[in-house]
Amino acid sequence: MKKIYVTRKLPGVIMDRLHENFDVNYWDDEDEPVPRDVLLREMKECEGLFCMLTETIDEELLDAAPKLKIVANLAVGYNNIDIEAAKNRNVIVTNTPGVLSETTADLTFALMLASARRLVETSEVVRDGTWGAWSPMHYTGQDVHGKTLGIIGLGRIGEAVAKRSTGFDMNVLYHNRRRNEEAESRLGATYVSFNKLLKHSDFIVLLLPYSKSNHHLIGSQEIGLMKKEAILINTARGGLVDEGALYHALEKREIYGAGLDVFEEEPVPLTNPLLQSKYVTTSPHIGSASIETRLHMCHLVTDNLIHVLSGRDPLTPVTK
Ligand code: DGY
Repeated sequence: MKKIYVTRKLPGVIMDRLHENFDVNYWDDEDEPVPRDVLLREMKECEGLFCMLTETIDEELLDAAPKLKIVANLAVGYNNIDIEAAKNRNVIVTNTPGVLSETTADLTFALMLASARRLVETSEVVRDGTWGAWSPMHYTGQDVHGKTLGIIGLGRIGEAVAKRSTGFDMNVLYHNRRRNEEAESRLGATYVSFNKLLKHSDFIVLLLPYSKSNHHLIGSQEIGLMKKEAILINTARGGLVDEGALYHALEKREIYGAGLDVFEEEPVPLTNPLLQSKYVTTSPHIGSASIETRLHMCHLVTDNLIHVLSGRDPLTPVTK
């Protein structure tokens, strides 16, 4: 049997499938990532790697893995992997597109609603006993229905968010590197320039892959173009947003709020000022975290390993 390494303890049903097909070594902890030195040691003999976004797959790691044929990432994003370095060594990289789109769109919409209607902040008011008498403007937020949604990165997840927005009678703008006219007519979305999207949207939703070239795509200049009532939602990657600039803009009330599922450093350090801001609604990188979807993702990673290590084509290769 071919040797694979799995960087985290996975649900029993997935471990069983892996054991049926491979000679498996794995990091026996569900919560803590495998230490780098252990991972480097384990790479020596293995032909397949089942990894997640907590592992950095770079030249050093690939050089420690002379027999490696496939890096199968348990995520749609793959900014943790040096794709060029893998390609140069004929190592196939796979990710998990499609199976998580609807679930991630659900969370994106949840953050839009929670940020606009101040759900987390007002829930605290109920719990800590400071809920005052009903008053006309107490705890008022922003409407979601009828507003303009600006999606930066209209891929599969972006489309699933746009689909949800039709039930809220929203007007949908989007910006992509390439225009997608088919999606425009299907979703009733309008293609606009990046700056126009920032200026005209009530909700600005980041759903594009992160790379060095779009680091801090949203900084003080971009926030400066947004409406005072705008809400920024990030369910993609933390590095897309200059967190310092966002914090200052929120505290100066230059924009209304932010819903953040991702941060530049994760777990986010408690010293990050965004955690002190009542204008931030946050969650711990749970975009795809429903039981069904995480199991689907694990099965897809397993299928990719089975395909590639039995000489077939990968199901969902990263083609960059
Ligand atoms: C992804 O798939 O890239 C998410 O961020 C993790 O599920």
